[in-house]
Amino acid sequence: MHNNNHFMSMPILILFISLTLSFLPLSFSTPYIHSLNKGSSLSVEKPDQVLISPKGVFSAGFHSVGDNAYCFAIWFSEPLYDGSHTIVWMANRDQPINGRLSKLCLLQNGNLILTDAGQLNVWATGTESISSAQLLLNDTGNLVLLTLEGLILWQSFDSPTDTLLPNQPLIKNKKLVSSRSQTNYSSGFYNLFFDNDNVLRLLFAGPETSSIYWPDPWLNNWETLRSSYNDDRTAVLNSSGHFKSTDNFEFTAVDSGIGTQKRLTMDYDGNIRLYSLDKIGKIWSVSWQAIQKPCNIHGICGPNSLCTYVPLEKFGRRCYCIPGYKIKSHTDQSLGCEPEFSLSCSDGEAGFLELHFTGAMVFTNYNCYTKSLLLNGYRSTGFPDPMYIKLPKVTLKSYTNHVQGFSSDCPRPVSLQLNRTYKKPQENETLQFLVWFASAIGGVEIICVCLVFCFLYRTRPDSVATTQSYLQIATGFRKFTYSELKQATHNFGEEIGRGGGGIVYKGVLSDHRVAAIKQLNDANQGEAEFLAEASTIGRVNHMNLIEVWGYCAEGKHQLLVYEYMEHGSLAENLATNTLDWVKRFDIAVGSAKGLAYLHEECLEWVLHCDVKPQNILLDSNYHPKVADFGLSKLLNRGGGHNSSFSKVRGTRGYTAPEWIFNHRITSKVDVYSYGVVVLEMVTGKSPLTNSPSSGNSGDMEQRHLVKWVREKMNETVAKESWLEEIIDPVMKGRYDASKMEILVGVALQCVEENKDARRTMSQVIQRLVHHEPSDY
Ligand SMILES: *[C@@H]1O[C@H](CO)[C@@H](O)[C@H](O)[C@H]1NC(C)=O
Ligand SMILES: *[C@@H]1O[C@H](CO)[C@@H](O)[C@H](O)[C@H]1NC(C)=O
Ligand SMILES: *[C@@H]1O[C@H](CO)[C@@H](O)[C@H](O)[C@H]1NC(C)=O
Ligand SMILES: *[C@@H]1O[C@H](CO)[C@@H](O)[C@H](O)[C@H]1NC(C)=O
Repeated sequence: MHNNNHFMSMPILILFISLTLSFLPLSFSTPYIHSLNKGSSLSVEKPDQVLISPKGVFSAGFHSVGDNAYCFAIWFSEPLYDGSHTIVWMANRDQPINGRLSKLCLLQNGNLILTDAGQLNVWATGTESISSAQLLLNDTGNLVLLTLEGLILWQSFDSPTDTLLPNQPLIKNKKLVSSRSQTNYSSGFYNLFFDNDNVLRLLFAGPETSSIYWPDPWLNNWETLRSSYNDDRTAVLNSSGHFKSTDNFEFTAVDSGIGTQKRLTMDYDGNIRLYSLDKIGKIWSVSWQAIQKPCNIHGICGPNSLCTYVPLEKFGRRCYCIPGYKIKSHTDQSLGCEPEFSLSCSDGEAGFLELHFTGAMVFTNYNCYTKSLLLNGYRSTGFPDPMYIKLPKVTLKSYTNHVQGFSSDCPRPVSLQLNRTYKKPQENETLQFLVWFASAIGGVEIICVCLVFCFLYRTRPDSVATTQSYLQIATGFRKFTYSELKQATHNFGEEIGRGGGGIVYKGVLSDHRVAAIKQLNDANQGEAEFLAEASTIGRVNHMNLIEVWGYCAEGKHQLLVYEYMEHGSLAENLATNTLDWVKRFDIAVGSAKGLAYLHEECLEWVLHCDVKPQNILLDSNYHPKVADFGLSKLLNRGGGHNSSFSKVRGTRGYTAPEWIFNHRITSKVDVYSYGVVVLEMVTGKSPLTNSPSSGNSGDMEQRHLVKWVREKMNETVAKESWLEEIIDPVMKGRYDASKMEILVGVALQCVEENKDARRTMSQVIQRLVHHEPSDY
């Protein structure tokens, strides 16, 4: 939308720029900007393009919040002793933007917008003005969009983030929202706001629960001296440090007086504090805080934890996990603790552990909810009654009142990374070139205008190209042209595999990466649909899943470009006996991880539906990567059936009984196929070619391998001897018998006829990795 506008006005803009530049060639080099006029912008790529308030107290510009992640922010210009800047406001705290091509633009229509990588609008004021307008930063820290007549169209004081500056009123329907953590500026869980009864309160709005914790929720308004009889709902801090709210709440900073810089901040630890700047030490000191006992702040240690006052710790408290629980995340304290055990409702295997001097606000552990939580627990000698927690009886004794402490006030700084690739829009290069050109040539505008038209005509991006570059920025994977792939594969000369709906060719891309390029044969859906599915596959990212680099969709040609795997498929390697026992076990674990990720962890639930040795590829170190996932979705659409699975997928020998009996298809079909693959790796026998006994029905015929292994196991009494009988002769005497037993046991559980008796892929990993003994 803006793009087009921008585009139409470009010849005029360029004419204007070239005229201006011929008279004022140096106007571009001034880094400090006091105002932004219509049609101009601040670029993230020019870090010294900042708006400075008239006396220089505040600055506004792009602030880095991680690698390649920026927010448009206002900060105190004067750095602190450690060189850091104190942020007082952010436009896009929850949606950082890229370090390239992103801009803050004041459009001709009066709208102030923030664009991400030149394409996506992440924030806008939504203002409109036909007359001229200016963006100014006031010395109060207020960023104001003013008309020529002095009318305020928009101001940052109206939409505070976590900080209130002197003379910035907090009013009805506005709130201060804390940051997530010291290093993460996105919206956190703590709010300062006017409640429905006109009283100013602090609210913990966590992911699962929310509760008011200030003023003390046990007390009435008259006990806290708050008035609910004034519906003005305004609170303001004046510049000498006096805070006054319409509910009669007020306080004065201990160091009140004019001159020192002040800010009232809703801190990420849930306390609201007034800070004054110590000009000599260049450090903020607390001159007032709402909550004196830090454990009274709700949610501060997260679920299933206890808070204890420890005066010497940073915020005067320390968090502990309750016995039997462990810290969920070392970088995010608010996630609290999670059980180290699993407790189910039915079995009576639980016992209770007594904790002394402990209290909790909410406690639902006695009932067996799926999410039983202990919230806002704290520990203090002031509590006379003990508290009980439910734990598995087996482990009860080992916990005897020991609690695991975690100091979470110094989270390791995690840097946020936006990993995207860029394709610089050509119009930009044209513009830059023209600016340079115009300033060099100066007065010869006529030539310039002519050039503008020539260039515009040549580089006008069509809408598909725009969508393309946007997708590339958003998903990091790209579109290839058919001719590009034709060249990369030497006219589809080297075939390296077949199946999964297409033929795979080896190719070398123009950036010298070796790729496997799959040409889909029965995919005839539209480009948009194909693209939607392909980009889903492109977003899946796991070390045991093949990486997809891009796609091509041109008419009937639909192709996917994958990373190339040096050692080919598991099938080839089994056929040539190149895999020893250690490699085979690692391949079993790795492919289970890849499948578990597809089933359980990735953004969109993907069934593979065609797990077989041909689709497990091995890299130069024989690490496995599952290939061809997502194709079941991709290929299905073309058939015109809307039901997800209209016909049997997969490969004979590896398909689960559900396909044959037309039962509901779940992730357990992949588990079945995986089990067959593992049996094949162990025995070296393909499920189809080896037919030890003749089956009658087609269904039974393809289960020979499974049946044969089960029979061998039941026939022979001694463990070693049946293992010796079934395993691939190549490995005889050169394997770990106990691990092998686990592997075969797991595989047999995967190929149970009843899908509910089969394990999930993550349970498979648990057993293989933790070597739990098999039930077999
Ligand atoms: C700008 O700051 C001055 C004092 O420095 C103040 O009087 C004025 O109201 C402010 N304007 C806005 C729009 O905040
Ligand atoms: C701030 O408010 C206090 C209390 O009302 C008052 O005494 C003081 O003069 C005010 N300061 C300013 C700068 O208005
Ligand atoms: C910051 O917090 C948000 C919201 O909880 C989260 O989505 C994001 O990943 C966090 N960023 C970092 C760098 O941890
Ligand atoms: C980001 O991309 C670069 C280059 O493509 C890669 O080396 C790096 O590992 C990626 N980082 C993350 C966090 O994915």
